[in-house]
Amino acid sequence: MRSFHVTTFGCQMNEHDSERMKGMLESLGYAEAPAREDADLILFNACSIREKADSRFVAHLHEAKALKRRDPQRVIGVGGCWAQSVKDLVFEQFPFVDVAFGPGQVHKLAEFLTSDSITAQGFFEFEGFTGDLPMRRARDFQAWMQISVGCNLKCSYCIVPSTRGREVSRPFDELVTEAERLVGEGVREITLLGQNVNSYGRDIRPDRRSFAELLHAIDATGVERVRYTSPHPKDIREDVITAHAELRSLCEHIHLPLQSGSTPILKAMRRTYSKERYLDRVALIREHVPDVALTTDIIVGFPGETDEDFEHTLDVVEQVGYDGAFTFIYSPRRGTEAAEMAEHFVSHEVAVERMERLVEVVQRRAREQAQRFVGRTREVLVEGHSRNAPTKLRGRTRHNKV
Ligand code: SAH
Ligand code: SF4
Ligand code: F3S
Repeated sequence: MRSFHVTTFGCQMNEHDSERMKGMLESLGYAEAPAREDADLILFNACSIREKADSRFVAHLHEAKALKRRDPQRVIGVGGCWAQSVKDLVFEQFPFVDVAFGPGQVHKLAEFLTSDSITAQGFFEFEGFTGDLPMRRARDFQAWMQISVGCNLKCSYCIVPSTRGREVSRPFDELVTEAERLVGEGVREITLLGQNVNSYGRDIRPDRRSFAELLHAIDATGVERVRYTSPHPKDIREDVITAHAELRSLCEHIHLPLQSGSTPILKAMRRTYSKERYLDRVALIREHVPDVALTTDIIVGFPGETDEDFEHTLDVVEQVGYDGAFTFIYSPRRGTEAAEMAEHFVSHEVAVERMERLVEVVQRRAREQAQRFVGRTREVLVEGHSRNAPTKLRGRTRHNKV
């Protein structure tokens, strides 16, 4: 029996695509190898969101090259946003790679493996939804469902629109049927994935659908918990917010990416909302769901960011009091608009210093917010054993607290 090993980098989209790769390979008769060096097929599903993601991955790729030198029969495949962002160049730079495919082309891997071709091949079309692939879930009781592929926005720092293509929503009824099937299989928590979940359904013809409608339909399947990521602050609508109050399954957590608290920087980022509009949305959310947990993504050191701009970011963090935040130093990405603003790049030193100040405020506010849970009994969905204390169990509350 032939064996495979998959290493995944990047976000939940890539994690989910890897589940589909694994399911597809098992249906082709491959078995998962315990370690990379035991596998006939070495696969990477790689990310390109920041430069660090790139370089970390390339080190792994060189390790695979050494394994292939020892056993030239081995096949090396590279997928995900990283592969898409370098396309055919991958074969020039890494001639030991046999097959490369973008996020929309996972199914082509099967075609490659079942063909007799021994020359390197690349698959980089965008085809929207590529049908049902079998998937192998990491946990029986949790599932991801991708509700749309691609992104139609043009955030000036972001590589994703070029790696995942135009936005296409998955048919409404197909999603509901899949959710029903998952519930039947014992799934208790479903996480809906999309780059901008709020725009779900706008492209569906003849009858447009909305994200709120989808949430209602998924709740009706009887699933215990529903999560989603990510909504875009520019168009999170009141019907989605009120769904949190109305639907039993919808968890009390919203990840609402801020990116910056400065209106001019938001403009340069092409986020299409202002500081005030963002705070307005937060107020509306808290009005309907007072106990909600809010998390966010923030970038520091975007080109042209002044001390004053940064103070506005700190101010939003202070005012909102997030339960947690992912913070990033701006990283110029090939082919993006912001990467052309080199004359305005913020020095690494300044960016690091801002990052430290930001993390301090984020953590202090998160600690303060966490006090509201003291003395309350929360329901936890156990995910397994704790990593650092094997005698303990690890799980998540509905507020997404580990
Ligand atoms: N579609 C999702 C997020 C995709 S990327 C959304 O819009 O919410 C996840 C996060 O990575 C982004 O929210 C942003 O904070 C960060 N990010 C994206 N591109 C970046 C870059 N070039 N440099 C630094 N951080 C970046
Ligand atoms: Fe990137 Fe913006 Fe699309 Fe998110 S919404 S994937 S940050 S372009
Ligand atoms: Fe995700 Fe990385 Fe692509 S964050 S969308 S895998 S560039």
